[in-house]
Amino acid sequence: MDKKIAILQDKINQAHLGGGQLRIDSQHKKGKLTARERIHFLMDEGSFEEIGMFVTHRSTDFGMETEKYLGDGVVTGYGTINGRLTYVFSQDFTVFGGSLSETHAEKICKLMDMAMKNGAPLIGLNDSGGARIQEGVVSLGGYADIFYKNVQASGVIPQLSAIMGPCAGGAVYSPAITDFILMVENTSYMFVTGPNVVKTVTHEEVTSEELGGANTHATKSGVTHFACTNEIEAINHVKKLLSFMPQNCEELAEHLPYEPGDESRTVLNTFMPQNASQPYDIRDIIAEVTDEESFLEVHKSFAENIVVGFARLAGRSIGVVANQPAYLAGVLDSNSSTKAARFVRFCDCFNIPLLVFEDVPGFLPGTDQEWNGIIANGAKLLYAFSEATVPRITVITRKAYGGAYDVMNSKHIGADLNFAWPSAEIAVMGAKGAAEIIFKREINSANDPQEKWLEKEKLYSDIFANPYRAAERGFIDEVIEPAQTRAKLIRAFKMLENKVVNNPRKKHGNIPL
Ligand code: HXC
Repeated sequence: MDKKIAILQDKINQAHLGGGQLRIDSQHKKGKLTARERIHFLMDEGSFEEIGMFVTHRSTDFGMETEKYLGDGVVTGYGTINGRLTYVFSQDFTVFGGSLSETHAEKICKLMDMAMKNGAPLIGLNDSGGARIQEGVVSLGGYADIFYKNVQASGVIPQLSAIMGPCAGGAVYSPAITDFILMVENTSYMFVTGPNVVKTVTHEEVTSEELGGANTHATKSGVTHFACTNEIEAINHVKKLLSFMPQNCEELAEHLPYEPGDESRTVLNTFMPQNASQPYDIRDIIAEVTDEESFLEVHKSFAENIVVGFARLAGRSIGVVANQPAYLAGVLDSNSSTKAARFVRFCDCFNIPLLVFEDVPGFLPGTDQEWNGIIANGAKLLYAFSEATVPRITVITRKAYGGAYDVMNSKHIGADLNFAWPSAEIAVMGAKGAAEIIFKREINSANDPQEKWLEKEKLYSDIFANPYRAAERGFIDEVIEPAQTRAKLIRAFKMLENKVVNNPRKKHGNIPL
């Protein structure tokens, strides 16, 4: 037996070496951790159990039968993160560049099946040269098997992808289907075709970083939700993100213990600028209302006119969606609508209540928006809110104009409670524009058109630049003192915690993609 155990230990040591010490050193020289080091930092100490350590590829072409590495370029297994069961795969760039072989794909698929059956999140740590070139179509098939399972798992268990090296070609579509993507600046990139192909086809000269680096995807494309300065930061973000989520769609996120205290926030009574066109940072209100330091912003640098992220309210995990008056006056456009819609759908999948702060002058006009599909994109947000069955509360802090009033979680589309601050203005449009249209003839025929316009603007504003017309109709449930916002929300979300909605039976809806 001793001999046999020694053989086993020898094999384990061999597997731990991946593609060998030289390649590990080269990985470190690039500022990257190895697959196992990443798992070490991600999982609770001593909790990781590896599955499939001795799997090798079955390929025989190009002399591959003599070049085999135990594990075949991916470490798979389960363990705990902050005490919660989590499944993880971590691609090993030291073995054929982490490329995906038939067996490498099988290992990932097996893990995904386990994660789904046992109802626990799946984390993918991606660092791969793509399809194993020596294997041809079986590798492509392996990718498709993963994509298919990603879709089956979508909405069942949270799926998170950290990109820690190359991720190119069709390989990008597995992370893209998962719920959140995190990228590491300077060492990771994602693109469908790399700089060489781009140069050949479009004659553009572009570096990998410019084309598909973390900052590009965090600011321009919105493909990544987080751009992290290094791998440890990315791993810590994965852990923090997970803390707001339940294990699966049948469960609720962990409710942290909370000691009730003085929930009034008097500073909010003097927060709103005097002039309704003056911007302010909605994050200041989010920080006041939610539990201290609890807000984790998602998609921070993309479509900054809307702010989305997770927070805690009296220990309860919530999703926050907020117009951002500090950026483009908080207007809704294509990118902000798509960004918020995806976030709303994630929260709804995983029973995370939604809190909406509304201060929106409407949808952004212009050819750019119209030609880029603001109609379809705005409809995504409308659809996402309308189909969401989680507890949903809106606080209108200032403007709620036009179609954006309807879209931003109005009562009409199923919100449970809508509060408004006394500074709320709920109307079809701003008073200036409204007066110009409906009093056009009177203004034009007046001795002093400018003065007439101001007079009519004031008239419209007196009638609609307040929350009371909407409150009379019951479209606003309560006009609240800003200082009481936190207290009201804590009570309201508690009241809604057993909410049940039975939507009509259907195969699935047809969200305008
Ligand atoms: C097999 C691969 C590989 C691959 C890299 N290697 N990519 N082996 N299949 N796809 C191996 C290299 O031979 C090398 O082996 C080791 O991994 C490290 O690669 P290097 O090139 O030395 O590393 P680096 O300079 O860091 O460059 C990394 C890289 C480059 C940018 C990823 O290797 C590269 O461009 N690879 C090919 C990428 C690609 O075109 N993949 C197919 C994409 S299409 P040794 O023995 O020297 O250590 C695709 C389709 C998916 O993926 C479709 C899904 C629908």
